[in-house]
Amino acid sequence: MMKTLKIENCNVECAVSQADIAALKGKAAEAMEKLHKGNGAGNDFLGWLNLPGTTDEALIADIEAAARALQGCEYVVAIGIGGSYLGAKAVIEALSDSFACFKPANGPRVLFAGQNIGEDYLYELMELLKGKKFGIIVISKSGTTTEPAIAFRMLKELLEAQVGKAEASKLIVAITDAKKGALRKLATEEGYKTFVIADNVGGRFSVLTPVGLLPIAAAGFDIRALLAGAKAMEEKTATSGDDNISEVYAMTRNALYNAGKKIEILVNYNPKLHYFGEWWKQLYGESEGKDGKGIFPAAVDNSTDLHSMGQWIQDGERTIFETVISVEEQKYTAVIPTDEANLDGLNYIAGKRVDEVNKMAELGTQIAHVDGNVPNIKVTLPALTEYHLGELIYFFEKACGISGYILDVNPFNQPGVEAYKKNMFALLNKPGYEAESAAIQARLK
Ligand code: PA5
Repeated sequence: MMKTLKIENCNVECAVSQADIAALKGKAAEAMEKLHKGNGAGNDFLGWLNLPGTTDEALIADIEAAARALQGCEYVVAIGIGGSYLGAKAVIEALSDSFACFKPANGPRVLFAGQNIGEDYLYELMELLKGKKFGIIVISKSGTTTEPAIAFRMLKELLEAQVGKAEASKLIVAITDAKKGALRKLATEEGYKTFVIADNVGGRFSVLTPVGLLPIAAAGFDIRALLAGAKAMEEKTATSGDDNISEVYAMTRNALYNAGKKIEILVNYNPKLHYFGEWWKQLYGESEGKDGKGIFPAAVDNSTDLHSMGQWIQDGERTIFETVISVEEQKYTAVIPTDEANLDGLNYIAGKRVDEVNKMAELGTQIAHVDGNVPNIKVTLPALTEYHLGELIYFFEKACGISGYILDVNPFNQPGVEAYKKNMFALLNKPGYEAESAAIQARLK
């Protein structure tokens, strides 16, 4: 039988009892009902819930064809920020060779832009792309987000200067709202290939739409397997009960939160999962951090960060718990050699796979952290493959919806994100922000 993702409540008893977790069963069942009946807060953003099971063959084939059309490019730049960036970045990093950029490529290299406003970043990217054949996937649900809009304006100008407007329009794919926004208007006028982000799927839940699927397919990965894994998890978490692992995770983290564990650290022992942590932080941070509530989501990459954050986690304020993603099987085998002189004293582990040592670092850390009163939840992934990443994505999405409703917030809005934008527009004297500009300038005097 095929191995699948598992969750084990390894060691949470130092902070909560099984009864504390079970006490949330009623709220979890209510949360599941709100999701499935669509009668909770934010119910106009539930399109992600049945996405894996309902994505039709025509859409998948269209995405694959668009990815194939970009295969002649040396680089494909995916432009987007937040939910229009992190999912694709997480999956591509998890599946890619760590040193791919130094090795010959047999397809385009997918790069990212518009996820920051770094002038040097954009300058250096444009220097790299000068004289190279490149394509652009520009992603913005609203079609008006400043960061990707700046990057797109600059890269579009470069592309058009290099290949001409007509050819450039064949190398640009836009993923945006069906009707609204500046990007939709531009795409229609310029005749770009487009994909739609459905109104009922929020940015941070959009990785299994063309937003994530097109860059992932352009990077050469199997989006059908990704969707199949997600679909299996959709089925597994469809009903409320003890077997619903998303529900178990959601209840456990809320029980821990109620017991004063205000910070959750997503821990990995595989450097390829760094951006998965970034994706997860957005998913939970934007969904739950509101109304003065919410677990603060953090992430560490071990064993690297045991040498920087390990002290704090072991010994700092006892307000944290950990969710550890443990990857069972590695793709390759690398064995530690015997050394006759043994000057480094490592012969006691000679002949072992590197992963055996990594697993002992993981187990040793788990025991040490439990001794230090850091509760641990363990999520075991059989391997870093498209299928299992699909399972993991949907597992966390579903748990996030349930957890947000247990916490009694609307998990699908993000009103707090607008505050910085309003100030930035006022400071930049954006037309329409005259009153805000005057007010903010007065504050700076
Ligand atoms: O989750 C969200 O809604 C945000 O992170 C958005 O994805 C992000 O702000 C980008 O927005 P847009 O896709 O509209 O450019």
